[in-house]
Amino acid sequence: RKVLLAYSGGLDTSISVPWLRENYGSEVVCFLADVGQGVGETEGLKDKAIASGASKFIVKDLREEFVKDYIFPCLRAGAVYERKYLLGTSMARPIIAKAMVDVAKEYGADAVSHGCTGKGNDQVRFELSFFALNPKLAVVAPWREWDIKGREDAIEYAKKHNVPVKATKKKIYSQDRNLWHISHEGDILEDPANEPVKDMFVMSVDPEDAPDTPEYVTIQIEKGLPVGYNGNKLSPVTLLEQLNEVGGKHGVGRIDMIENRLVGMKSRGVYETPGGTILAAACRELEALTLDRESMQMKDTLALKYAELVYAGRWFDPLRESMDAFMEKMTETSTGEVTLKLFKGSVTVASRSSPNSLYRQDISSFEEGSGIYNQADAAGFIRLYGLPTRVRAMHKHGL
Ligand code: ARG
Ligand code: SIN
Repeated sequence: RKVLLAYSGGLDTSISVPWLRENYGSEVVCFLADVGQGVGETEGLKDKAIASGASKFIVKDLREEFVKDYIFPCLRAGAVYERKYLLGTSMARPIIAKAMVDVAKEYGADAVSHGCTGKGNDQVRFELSFFALNPKLAVVAPWREWDIKGREDAIEYAKKHNVPVKATKKKIYSQDRNLWHISHEGDILEDPANEPVKDMFVMSVDPEDAPDTPEYVTIQIEKGLPVGYNGNKLSPVTLLEQLNEVGGKHGVGRIDMIENRLVGMKSRGVYETPGGTILAAACRELEALTLDRESMQMKDTLALKYAELVYAGRWFDPLRESMDAFMEKMTETSTGEVTLKLFKGSVTVASRSSPNSLYRQDISSFEEGSGIYNQADAAGFIRLYGLPTRVRAMHKHGL
């Protein structure tokens, strides 16, 4: 067997290398996906992977594809899981899995492996994606098999197998970062009664420490997708990086929630999605100008399902793809600009405009209008619209 391992350079995936070789008698190729988690100097990671026993180390920069083909569709759909979660980890797993399927083919690997625990969502997302893209690949999840219990165990295992262990400071939270967000779980967060501590946060300042003067940002949107910021056309990656910067500076995009994991348990997570929160607010606001009532209702209804599918690892389902076709059509006219005011953690809409706006001041104004709307029409409209109401009331009053 030749196993392709999703490798991060951390302790867990490092000891997976000798473990896979020992237990599957196999050659191990380490794969690092760059989704904007800040992989930094990859030479060091390569040396570490090889020193741990890997036969090869492969890195792929997936950032552009990640933003364009995974993040932006979720943004356009308005996908939010359980009222709050902007799905940052959920949407990264299918793209990593897809890259792994491609690399496995290229290097003749017949098995893939990941470092997810057996208790979470990520294992499901990886494995459903593998199933969808290449059902012949064998999947190995060391965490579900080995008896390495905690960090001490892992360090001992590493030493025994000559895996280089850096004397880094103990990582207390389980964190997952990419271009869209960072998640924090574990340690003191496991008690929902505990407030997160200040020094845990990575992408945003504490709103209390944010600047005392607000900052306006203008987002340019074309057909439901952001294309620029403050008048500058930017590539998706650059746009998101810049918005993470400005959002983070103002303490925007922090979420603290209890969520229902796919595997049945509730878990507590804290998320930072500074740029994403700005973009979601801008896209949503523009639709208020361009969508009629029923379109908006249907879009919001499907957005719930869309989010659920993404959360549950069903990215490659035909249902998700079909909903994208719907979302694309629905946002065909969602072009324009939204200006938001960022201030101490809040995002407030200041202004919006669209060449496709369905808002007509000449119709909506309280001032004398153009005659398109005739107030006298309202009387008949209300009588017929309220007919069932009147019939019910007549019945109740014996009329
Ligand atoms: N609960 C979030 C989700 O399911 C975050 C998961 C974080 N994953 C991780 N490997 N730390 O999407
Ligand atoms: C894990 O279990 O590997 C992280 C948490 C999750 O997947 O939900």
